[in-house]
Amino acid sequence: MLFDEVIDKRYSERKYSSKEPSDESIEKLLEAARKAPIANGQYDKCRLTVVKDKNLMEDFVKEYQEKTGKSKNPLYAAPVFIIFSSSKDTSARFEDAGCVIEHICLKATEMGLGSCYIRGSVNALGKDAAYIKNLNLDEGFYPVSGVIVGYPDGESSAREHNIKTNYIN
Ligand SMILES: Cc1cc2nc3c(=O)[nH]c(=O)nc-3n(C[C@H](O)[C@H](O)[C@H](O)COP(=O)(O)O)c2cc1C
Repeated sequence: MLFDEVIDKRYSERKYSSKEPSDESIEKLLEAARKAPIANGQYDKCRLTVVKDKNLMEDFVKEYQEKTGKSKNPLYAAPVFIIFSSSKDTSARFEDAGCVIEHICLKATEMGLGSCYIRGSVNALGKDAAYIKNLNLDEGFYPVSGVIVGYPDGESSAREHNIKTNYIN
């Protein structure tokens, strides 16, 4: 797929089929993730965790629902949840996450996979959440944001967006 086509086709998918992406597909997403820019080139302060374990995802959803009192599934029953963690205590960790996750989303689009950035629930659960213990992260690393990936259930397409822009000539 040409780059412009990938850009035109990317959208946040929130309905997934139960078909799981192959390990080879996930590896391609991770290769794209690793090519993302990171503030100060501090790749050693970043971690990626690929979660396919349904129990861990259920624990995440349950913990989110209990903490917020909301009934929605913040992971939309997607088969894969990739979590970006960081040991940085500066706001650069959010920007690092954004770059890495967008690389994953664009690569997923190119491969015919759906994806959606997941920040709200990761943020709501915070640094002390119980699910974090099961991510096997090195000490000092905490989840910043994540991305869900899978095959779309049904037909969706990209929405029109506009960002108001001014020019200083
Ligand atoms: C930093 C960031 C955090 C986001 N967090 C969530 C989230 O937690 N849950 C969700 O469903 N979508 C989330 N999104 C997706 C946005 O809602 C979505 O990108 C936006 O509405 C535009 O729609 P589109 O991606 O389909 O073009 C997030 C996007 C970004 C960039």
